[in-house]
Amino acid sequence: MKLTGRTILITGGSAGIGLAFALKFLELGNTVIVTGRRQALLDEVKAMYPKLHTIQCDVADSAQIASLAMRMKAEFPKLDVLMNNAGIMLHKNLKVSATDLDGVMAEVNINLGGVIRATSAFIDIITGNKGTLINVSSALAFVPLPSAPIYCATKAAVHSYTQSLRFQLEDTGVEVIELMPPGVKTAMTTDLSEGSVALMTTDELIKQSFAAFRAGKLEIRPGQSNQLALMRRLAPNFINRQLWKASMPLVPTGKK
Ligand SMILES: NC(=O)c1ccc[n+]([C@@H]2O[C@H](COP(=O)([O-])OP(=O)(O)OC[C@H]3O[C@@H](n4cnc5c(N)ncnc54)[C@H](OP(=O)(O)O)[C@@H]3O)[C@@H](O)[C@H]2O)c1
Repeated sequence: MKLTGRTILITGGSAGIGLAFALKFLELGNTVIVTGRRQALLDEVKAMYPKLHTIQCDVADSAQIASLAMRMKAEFPKLDVLMNNAGIMLHKNLKVSATDLDGVMAEVNINLGGVIRATSAFIDIITGNKGTLINVSSALAFVPLPSAPIYCATKAAVHSYTQSLRFQLEDTGVEVIELMPPGVKTAMTTDLSEGSVALMTTDELIKQSFAAFRAGKLEIRPGQSNQLALMRRLAPNFINRQLWKASMPLVPTGKK
């Protein structure tokens, strides 16, 4: 992947992994636009890093994605990288019936629906500019962490969707990259920080991911992500049970 002189939109780029990538891309001389739902957080990010462009947009909202696409076409016609990164992770007790049936679909609407919506809305501009799509799935696409069952299902689905996308775009000159991080220390993983799952820093994730970008890799599996992919093939029952044991304390006891 070419790493300079590009115009890059990162969904969910106001914190965590998205923000770390945004700052690295900025440092390399790219134009970077980040989105997120919380305007106050976007304002803080803008104040700290004035060169970043910030736009409020919820990837779960089709109308907001459609108007973001129109705005990007008007204001940033050279947009040639879309990084589908926005995501949430919720721990769920599948034994408890849900009262909020819309609420249980939140991860599907954001983690999977957001990738599909944004890709579909931006595909003409990305293909027109012979650009790059980067979908952020997870090592948990290979092996579920059973305390977060819906999250893991969405990441497996993003993995599958990305493979189809890569085949369909083969003759367009668009690169389709999938970034599959292992556990990374961000707001998303504060529940996991107690020691049950090893967490990588965003600095290390950036280091390994940019080395992989430079090497032209299309499926990037930093750190333990590669080992999980291997374990899934060599000893699926063992690794699945290990992750179940590690995540058992995270299953909530009350209503979902
Ligand atoms: N951390 C990990 O261990 C890990 C591992 C593998 C993969 N990942 C994936 O990496 C991505 C980033 O995770 P992270 O750890 O950086 O999480 P994070 O620190 O919680 O940051 C999530 C970012 O996404 C934004 N966001 C959430 N929902 C959104 C929505 N509906 N529309 C637009 N923006 C939204 C958040 O801002 P607002 O809340 O203001 O919208 C925030 O900027 C996710 O897709 C996650 O699944 C994370």
